[in-house]
Amino acid sequence: MAFPKDFLWGGAVAANQCEGAYNEDGKGIDIQDIMPRGIKGAPTAEPTADNMKLVGIDFYHRYKEDVKLFAEMGFKVFRTSIAWSRIYPHGDDAEPNEKGLQFYDDLFAECHKYGIEPLVTISHYETPLHLAKKYNGWISHDLIGFYERYVRTIFTRYKGKVKYWLTFNEINSILHAPLMSGGIMTPREELSLSDLYQACHHELVASALATKIGHEMMPEAKIGCMILSMPTYPLTPNPDDIIKTMLANNLNDFFGDMHARGEYPGYMKRYFRENGIEIKTTPEELALMKENTVDFISFSYYVSICESADAKAEKGAGNLMGGKRNPYLKESEWGWQIDPQGLRFVLNRFYNRWQKPLFIVENGLGAKDELVDDGKGGKTVNDDYRIAYLNDHLVQVGEAIEDGVPVMGYTTWGCIDLVSASTAQLAKRYGFIYVDRHDDGSGTLARYRKKSFWWYKDVIASNGESLKK
Ligand code: BG6
Repeated sequence: MAFPKDFLWGGAVAANQCEGAYNEDGKGIDIQDIMPRGIKGAPTAEPTADNMKLVGIDFYHRYKEDVKLFAEMGFKVFRTSIAWSRIYPHGDDAEPNEKGLQFYDDLFAECHKYGIEPLVTISHYETPLHLAKKYNGWISHDLIGFYERYVRTIFTRYKGKVKYWLTFNEINSILHAPLMSGGIMTPREELSLSDLYQACHHELVASALATKIGHEMMPEAKIGCMILSMPTYPLTPNPDDIIKTMLANNLNDFFGDMHARGEYPGYMKRYFRENGIEIKTTPEELALMKENTVDFISFSYYVSICESADAKAEKGAGNLMGGKRNPYLKESEWGWQIDPQGLRFVLNRFYNRWQKPLFIVENGLGAKDELVDDGKGGKTVNDDYRIAYLNDHLVQVGEAIEDGVPVMGYTTWGCIDLVSASTAQLAKRYGFIYVDRHDDGSGTLARYRKKSFWWYKDVIASNGESLKK
């Protein structure tokens, strides 16, 4: 296997999906606190007891135990996000919340204690609720200023402690999940494409600004963007399907093009023209984006999807966005089609297009797990299905590295069970570590090592040599 010596093996979570403690130590309410059904139901007026994220897996109080388990697996890197509303409870406050800042100081120190490098997402689906309600989230130009204040605060505080930063989680998802991804309160169906692309523009400007400030303040830091990758294949070789597929891929590649090349591509200008999309930009913003491209491209990868000019082709589910079903692939219990080779395809495609180092910061299988006796007086989960999924994807990462693609690292999604983003369930488990908590709110919150825990430990210790082709 071709994994480089300094390959960053690890796992990923997001604050809102694991921390809990939603109103402790000065944290403000964020949009997740009023989304008890994820993107599958309407937001509530106030946080409600059925919202699994309010407690999460109680990572806020148990992070020491959890980081120790990550260290036991040999993690080199741990991806998490900073909950914006722990630092600026309303988002537009003049002063940050010291207790929130202290929490991440402690968490990063705990990681460093074991030689684990933090990889931090600045904004992962957790816009402070006040920014959503008062400004309609990223539709408002004002968000750029609030984000800048937040970014300056965390860069100042964690300079020297965090080397790898991601500006926005799955930035392209704002088009599909405007509330979760962009803090936009207006329901999706009432938003025009101009509204949505204006919000995209604001995030893209903010991302370039964070990259600029990061480079100025922390010359040693690496700042990346984060894209939801879902390669779209033509359902048939019919040229109509090919063009439809090209156009679908364009709408996603737009976000990588902006971060790697720093300017609105011709295909996007045409798309704007033909769809009556008008957005406000300034020459200063366009120059900022041109001059401040990212150091690396990171992405999530779970599924591929097909596109077809035939409106009657069977629909397929995807991660936040859908398409047509691929007849050659099996799917997870949540209908996500499993395509390990798609990861090699994405890695090659992204590198050929952007010529930047790549970081796979999410990949994994959401599945129902059964906790059983391990025969030694403890409990475990025999998750061979998860091992098979991860093994097959990692083999394809190895293939891409052989293809010459520079891959910085790989962090599996939900390395410890957490609350799902799309469905807000805990039953959709991704972890190497089982957490005893259930969707009815019951459970002890105890942690148990799954079979995949030992498997991943071997993969890391052997730097990928133990993977089975
Ligand atoms: C990505 C998100 O969309 O996929 C994560 O960045 C999310 O926040 C992950 O949890 C898996 O999706 P889900 O809906 O199964 O939690």
